Amino acid sequence: MNSVQAVAKSYQLFNPKAYLQNNYVPPRADFSSEQSVMCWKLRCLHEACAKGEIKGHTVLDIGSGPTIYQLLSVFENFDEVIMTDFLEVNREELRKWLKNEPDTFDWSPYFKHVCKLEGKGESWQNKEKHFRERVTRVIPSDIHQPCPLGKEFASGSVDCLVSSFCLEACSPDLEAFQKALENIVGLLNPLGHFLWIGALEESYYLAGEAKLTVVPVTEEMVKAALGKAKCVIREFRTYSMTPAMKVGVDDVSGIFFVWAQKRDNK
Ligand SMILES: C[S@@+](CC[C@H](N)C(=O)[O-])C[C@H]1O[C@@H](n2cnc3c(N)ncnc32)[C@H](O)[C@@H]1O
Repeated sequence: MNSVQAVAKSYQLFNPKAYLQNNYVPPRADFSSEQSVMCWKLRCLHEACAKGEIKGHTVLDIGSGPTIYQLLSVFENFDEVIMTDFLEVNREELRKWLKNEPDTFDWSPYFKHVCKLEGKGESWQNKEKHFRERVTRVIPSDIHQPCPLGKEFASGSVDCLVSSFCLEACSPDLEAFQKALENIVGLLNPLGHFLWIGALEESYYLAGEAKLTVVPVTEEMVKAALGKAKCVIREFRTYSMTPAMKVGVDDVSGIFFVWAQKRDNK
């Protein structure tokens, strides 16, 4: 078994509900505290999207997992939102939430917070309804394939990519991380936008019975990887995990947020 296959095997134990409980409730998602890591992530995404440049026909989320927060500021600027993941359990969790089925995660505090950031007076219920309508597909992806979504998505066919905590958490080493980045950037059209959030200097995280190995990356490594993948960095921000954010489910030391743009090949 090669190391990419070994990572894939370790994901067979990934538990979406445990993962959500570890990361997407207080203290990590405490909307009463601006210091909470979730407020920071949502603020970064909101401020980049509020500039008005990130728009187009299709936005694609790579390695969505069971989460939707990463799309809340960007989705209204696109006609079609496509969510993707390697695991059927995660795709199923998303589909159930999109269909408003019972026993799914409560994302309403996230919608309320993003509506507050936008300050347009839109109700969170309205935004939630629009989100459910705008996501047209939840499909398989594999960042280690040259065509991560299969042949249907030709290279250069997507206007915007979003990805959060996927590449470093699903690659066996730095070489595979770089290749995976180039594979997904290949989907973007020239000058297409990339909103990327990831873990800094993390070596593992937990999701129920699963203990997933992570490639520890630094800010410099992420910036160099983007340069090699022919992306120009528009904005790069970091967050240091405070003691209150260390809850025993991983050893992450910080988070990066990048807004990048694929170089024009002219
Ligand atoms: C740490 S979770 C991130 C989930 C979510 N994006 C978030 O922000 O919390 C990593 C995700 O990558 C997915 N994954 C694992 N291997 C993958 C692969 N080869 N290609 C694409 N996604 C993969 C996992 O199923 C999991 O949902």
